Amino acid sequence: MSAGNSPIVWNELMEIIIQPTADAATDIAARIIARLLRGKPDAVLGLATGSTPLRLYRKLIAMDLDWSRVTTFNLDEYIGLPREHPQSYHSFMWENLFRHINIAADHIHIPDGNAADIPDFCACYEQQIANVGGIDLQVLGIGTDGHIGFNEPTSSLASRTRIKTLTGQTRLDNARFFGSERDVPHHVITMGIGTIMEARQNLLLAFGPNKARAIAEAVEGPITSINPASILQMHPVVKVCLDEPAASDLQRADYYRWVYAHKPDWQAY
Ligand code: GLP
Repeated sequence: MSAGNSPIVWNELMEIIIQPTADAATDIAARIIARLLRGKPDAVLGLATGSTPLRLYRKLIAMDLDWSRVTTFNLDEYIGLPREHPQSYHSFMWENLFRHINIAADHIHIPDGNAADIPDFCACYEQQIANVGGIDLQVLGIGTDGHIGFNEPTSSLASRTRIKTLTGQTRLDNARFFGSERDVPHHVITMGIGTIMEARQNLLLAFGPNKARAIAEAVEGPITSINPASILQMHPVVKVCLDEPAASDLQRADYYRWVYAHKPDWQAY
């Protein structure tokens, strides 16, 4: 049997894709998602917010894909921020993706940061993910401290969707969106690390020099809750799309570049 027809998905467990620019790295991520949606029109996508995936969403919109049967689950949301607040992740997703595509509104899931009973909401969110058969592909950014979703350092590596308290660093990092650090909420709902690890594929994007240390620790460091993204080393299908500055602390960057440059055609994106 040729490798191309094999039912076994051949993969680098964690594949590091280093591109000269964020735009080139995002092109690859967009192609991976487009291929999934064309091959599985009722795919379930896990989506992320922050500045990192903005370019990805613009590219996906421009690709004119059919989203009519796609279901989405967002990673996280601030607690207590009105839905209509410009910095709510609800507003972010509608503004930057959903209003531009033909997705069905009832296929969109974003944690409700104003739910009356947050633990109950979190349990239902997990149940909703299970009800649609799990997430096919989860898009991830990374915090400067290695957080994924809003799973801050020392989050349980087995955690599920729940309430989290943001660290001072994350509130400082996100203050640029709010105008002042004082206005950044302290509490959030986030999918857990255990939830993220159950996605069938993870696609992590990181750009810029301020992500270099978190990426080096996540990819080449020990698996530790101090850098929550490091657990992805245990995930069977992870692609890490980086620009050169985000890759600049990787000890084995040349090896990753070589591997990527010599992929067989049937593995190319
Ligand atoms: C927030 C989000 C994360 C995101 C991170 C990085 O904390 N909850 O999902 O990955 O910010 O944001 P940015 O992409 O703006 O650097």
